[in-house]
Amino acid sequence: MEEPQSILTDTFDRTHSYLRISLTERCNLRCYYCMPEYGVPLMPRPDLMNSEELFEIAKIFVEAGVNKIRLTGGEPLVRKDFPEIVSSLATLPITLSITSNGVSIDRHMEILQKHKIQTINLSLDTLVAAKFKKITFRDYFDKVYTNIFRLMDADFKVKINMVLMKGVNDDEIIDFIQFTKNHAVNVRFIEFMPFDGNNWNRKKTVSLKEILSRIKTTFAKEDIIKLPDAPSDTAKNYKIAGYKGEFGVISTVTNPFCDTCNRIRLTANGRIKNCLFSPTESDLLTPFREGRDIRLIIQKAMKNKFAMRGGLNTPQQFNDLNEHSENRSMIRIGG
Ligand code: 5AD
Ligand code: SF4
Repeated sequence: MEEPQSILTDTFDRTHSYLRISLTERCNLRCYYCMPEYGVPLMPRPDLMNSEELFEIAKIFVEAGVNKIRLTGGEPLVRKDFPEIVSSLATLPITLSITSNGVSIDRHMEILQKHKIQTINLSLDTLVAAKFKKITFRDYFDKVYTNIFRLMDADFKVKINMVLMKGVNDDEIIDFIQFTKNHAVNVRFIEFMPFDGNNWNRKKTVSLKEILSRIKTTFAKEDIIKLPDAPSDTAKNYKIAGYKGEFGVISTVTNPFCDTCNRIRLTANGRIKNCLFSPTESDLLTPFREGRDIRLIIQKAMKNKFAMRGGLNTPQQFNDLNEHSENRSMIRIGG
């Protein structure tokens, strides 16, 4: 008999206890760093995991050692059966969280509260309404901003994901930190990452080093407090002395954190991705539908996991857009 944990252990002895499930490739925003301008072909509904399949497959991962599940998308809340999915997953012994763009949080407050979704990561790249429209191609800044307050008022732990792009929103780093003065949120500055169709180039990325040096121009060194990072945390966490909130930097491009990776991804059509940057995927849904044991496929996918960024070890490889063309666009992975 296999040890229950072992199918989720890779050849570098990393155990994977955190599963990120994309519920859909659809989204009600069009953030250009995520959604290719030529769009993405939408998969036919029958190709996606339905809510029962999703639950059964998730259960196999939980039995193998997963203790945290995050629901992503596209935008997870656009899925009509979101309430069923959450209610069933909430019966598993896991921490359940979601990443959402915040547009329709108000319509889902009840279900989120009922199932004690502890942390909610919201994407918000700017505090300027006109800029929001430029980035997302939708005029929903007010909705999202109001929903952040709704969540805070209801005592959710809110993280705000801000993808930093040079010349677009890097002038707002300090404004976002000021937002943490009176609000107990965690703002996460995310280095802009390359994915299929997102016109990435290294010069548009704002690095961890640059972010910290900008912060040092406004705040005194002794007021910038380094916080301890949880094991496998992707962010380097900080706070400003006396501020209610915190901030962190996620630096996949300039300072990868692959050696402590505990994350596995499941796409909306039931494929396992062993890394965000892995161009290869393993289909779990088809064999699951055929009644086969998918644990061996999961184990094989984990054993094939590279040490770092899907095998893109050097900055040269990582910065070469051709290396990313076999991978999915971000909208189809789910962050
Ligand atoms: N680079 C960095 N982060 C990205 N996200 C989407 N696309 C990118 C990218 N190209 C993040 C957004 C969102 C999450 C789902 O993924 O911050 O919050
Ligand atoms: Fe939608 Fe999030 Fe992608 Fe924006 S980043 S298009 S909100 S999935």
